[in-house]
Amino acid sequence: MFKNAIVRRPGHSLVNGITSTPELGKPDYGLTIKQHDAYIGALRFCGVEVTVLQADERFPDSCFVEDVAVCTKKFAVITNPGASSRKGEEKVIIEVIKKFYNNLEYIKEPGTLEGGDVMMVGEHFYIGLSKRTNREGAHQLIEVLKKYGMSGSIVETSEMLHLKSGLAYLEDNILLVTGEFINNLEFKKFNKIMIEEEEIYSANCIRVNDYVLVPAGSPETKEKIKAAGFKVIVVDTSEYRKVNGGLSCLSLRF
Ligand code: GLY
Repeated sequence: MFKNAIVRRPGHSLVNGITSTPELGKPDYGLTIKQHDAYIGALRFCGVEVTVLQADERFPDSCFVEDVAVCTKKFAVITNPGASSRKGEEKVIIEVIKKFYNNLEYIKEPGTLEGGDVMMVGEHFYIGLSKRTNREGAHQLIEVLKKYGMSGSIVETSEMLHLKSGLAYLEDNILLVTGEFINNLEFKKFNKIMIEEEEIYSANCIRVNDYVLVPAGSPETKEKIKAAGFKVIVVDTSEYRKVNGGLSCLSLRF
């Protein structure tokens, strides 16, 4: 069960966020705010207490709070983002994380790691190697996990921005999976829900207590998740998609 979530309001500077899809255009500020309100509403509906941080215009991507911390049952890790324009975001999340956690750990240079590359499955954490997370960062996280009696393993990635751009663990051994991860033997043991190329963005869903949040515009994914027995809430994140953002990276849940 998740009791808490942390989100950060998007700033006007979100239009300068990192994007791999400039053809989608720039986010519309008014709509980003409306969609953020709806996202917070969905988290609250799922029974989560949401801490809302003010926008920080210095960091265009800082509403994507998931990348700057990894929150577990026993401890939190402040990460070291691999994207140069995101360096410093991790420092401005520390104070609020300290309110919830006594045990704080840090990813240190030359290690880089972003939370979007970390997928929690019970007490095991899959860590994707990406342009943002390097081997050193992944090893540092694995050492921290061992210290607290947990474990981690490395997943090579080649196409996705982050590990969780192509994977979502819905609990109960059910994994949403797309693209390069479909045939990855690391995930052999899971019951898989395959996401087709046309709806690739919707592989980034989140299970929040009794519900799965699914991005708008992915009818097949929604039906597949419902058919697997989950209750679904559809949330529109079209403006965040324009800057590589999705449902998971908009919050820290713990
Ligand atoms: N714009 C979010 C990211 O690429 O990190």
